[in-house]
Amino acid sequence: MPANLPHAASPGAPDPDRGGMPFAAPGSLSGAAVPSLRRQALAILCLSDAHEKAAATRRMRLAGEAMAPEALGIGEAISDELPLPGRPPLPELVAPQRVERRRSIHTPAGRSALIHALAHIEFNAINLALDAIWRFDAMPVAFYLDWLRVADEEALHFSLLAQHLATLGARYGDFPAHNSLWEMADKTAGDVLARMALVPRTLEARGLDASPPVRAKLAAAGDHEAAAIIDIILRDEVGHVAIGNRWYRWLCASRGMDPVTTYAELAARYQAPRLRPPFNLAARRAAGFDEDELAWLEGQASQLYSVTTT
Ligand SMILES: [Fe+2]
Ligand SMILES: [Fe+2]
Repeated sequence: MPANLPHAASPGAPDPDRGGMPFAAPGSLSGAAVPSLRRQALAILCLSDAHEKAAATRRMRLAGEAMAPEALGIGEAISDELPLPGRPPLPELVAPQRVERRRSIHTPAGRSALIHALAHIEFNAINLALDAIWRFDAMPVAFYLDWLRVADEEALHFSLLAQHLATLGARYGDFPAHNSLWEMADKTAGDVLARMALVPRTLEARGLDASPPVRAKLAAAGDHEAAAIIDIILRDEVGHVAIGNRWYRWLCASRGMDPVTTYAELAARYQAPRLRPPFNLAARRAAGFDEDELAWLEGQASQLYSVTTT
């Protein structure tokens, strides 16, 4: 799929670049032997071994943050020839309704299934962050550095959960899983605005709501190590949603669009999942959602509630 997208950064748009770094001019990469950051992200996205992908992603952050802006490949035209993302043969991907209902987390098998489901979310999250880096060209330098950070933190989350899964006698791939997260990446591959609206600001934000009850269940089951991992994930995910909000607003400003009405249009057009309360309003505020956006969200939820109860 071509990576050249129609909505390049507008020079007149607000520039949130860290440290005032300039936009790299398209085609400015000199053809050096070291691949650009965007090409490295695509290469890692193609890796099929989940643990190798996580380790390579963590190394890429260190290398990427030391790169000069010209080495990021911001103006490069890159296309993907392989099916994306690279993934291991297991877990088997099944329809969401075929994912087994979780057993009691008071049993080791039930707890393994829950930790596995979380690890699968984080594996997808690594892929989503890598995809944001390579797929969308002509964004400001800070966009790529933000998603580099997200990719690294998702790789950490995956590794922590995979290690914990091993202590329960299981490993990533042992349970079937669904592919809804990547399906949204596919649907929004042609527009960075839709991607920012519907992946970090919708799917990752849903994780902010889900984390406190999952953490409470794990702690109640006596799995304090897993609860501590959820604390790390929630802390980092607030930052990921904030990054989504930052670039969503920046793109809306670049295109002269209203963030609240545009989100409603995109959610309908791309059939985003309807979000259900209770919402983690403190985390959502910390991630930068404003009161108009939260009021819209709660209005949607109350409409959904009235439809499902009548
Ligand atoms: Fe994560
Ligand atoms: Fe995330």
